[in-house]
Amino acid sequence: MSENRDRLIERAGIGLLAIGGLLVLVAVVFGVLIAIGVGDESADPQQPGPAAGEPGGPTLRALAGPRRLLVGAAVPVEALKGDASYARTLAREYNALTPENAMKWDTIHPERNRYDFAPADSIVRFARAHDMAVRGHTLVWYRQVPSWVTDRSWTRPELEQVLHDHIRRVVGHYRGKIAQWDVVNEAFDSEGKLRDSIWMRVIGPEYIDLAFRWAHEADPDAKLFYNDYDLEFPGAKARAVMAFVRDLQRRGVPIDGVGIQAHELTVRPPSRKELQSALRGYAGLGLDVGITELDVGIYLPTSAAKLDEQAAVYSDVLDACLAVSRCGSFVTWGFTDKYSWIPSELPGFGDALPFDANYAPKPAFTALRRGLARGHP
Ligand code: XIL
Repeated sequence: MSENRDRLIERAGIGLLAIGGLLVLVAVVFGVLIAIGVGDESADPQQPGPAAGEPGGPTLRALAGPRRLLVGAAVPVEALKGDASYARTLAREYNALTPENAMKWDTIHPERNRYDFAPADSIVRFARAHDMAVRGHTLVWYRQVPSWVTDRSWTRPELEQVLHDHIRRVVGHYRGKIAQWDVVNEAFDSEGKLRDSIWMRVIGPEYIDLAFRWAHEADPDAKLFYNDYDLEFPGAKARAVMAFVRDLQRRGVPIDGVGIQAHELTVRPPSRKELQSALRGYAGLGLDVGITELDVGIYLPTSAAKLDEQAAVYSDVLDACLAVSRCGSFVTWGFTDKYSWIPSELPGFGDALPFDANYAPKPAFTALRRGLARGHP
């Protein structure tokens, strides 16, 4: 938790200094977008009219479908139960989802001999009922690993066995139902070194190869992704991950794609050029790429100007993805400010998603809809 958090706070600090300049930039970008008259907001006559409080006009999924783009959101299982507005908005706007926590070790494999598939199953059922693709998240990470794994001293063969059993069982359980798996998540730290974890300590760097190979055996049709943050910011980490992924390919490890998480802050967003060149870099290796966890935290309190800055960031990330044909998924980390990890992860920041806590669309939503309607900028 803390490293990700420190990194975001550090970015926020630098960003606050630059906020004046950025505001000007955002205003200019917006001015240009308005001046060129982007988007056609006319309602699709095929669609039934919106209910009170719902955005009129085409849905995100109606616009993304013809582009063969997965437009998705991370889903906490609690929200799907007992919040009808949540489920309605999710199914209306998105053609993909990622279980936010339900497929992580601590939920799905709480004890060595016990798997709990119920929460993830309910999310996958919802997805299938509403014709949505599922991104599986995640098989190997350093966080949300249960204490039965972390608080024991394992020999290397023992821990490999545990990891193999987990991957075979979880991937096998959802075989044929998962479009993309985040096989390994955040294996690199902010300096570009393979980060410390139980997997690194006991198995060593080879845990990554093994995880991909075992996932491929368990579901040969699922697209297997490496997923991480800050890959859009040029620097040691972005370089290290790029080199590592090339090496995986060279050694014949079955990797299909790279997910750029894109947890952004309005105070220091990546430029569209940076985003695009990161996506292009991986696409150039012959890999699929995707935006997998986009959110754009606002330094509270929110204002109309900050919502517009936020919309500009959403728009830039979407445009970067639309400009790269291998960018097949655009997933936000939630969709409503009612359920978002940002306020608890980064106190002082919030309102990071395209819908407010009452499911009213924010400028960010309108920007996404415009971007999808317009297509490749
Ligand atoms: C976050 C969830 O949103 C929180 O509910 C949970 O407490 C911690 O994990 N990178 C990832 C995601 O890959 O799995 C994280 O999700 C956010 C950062």
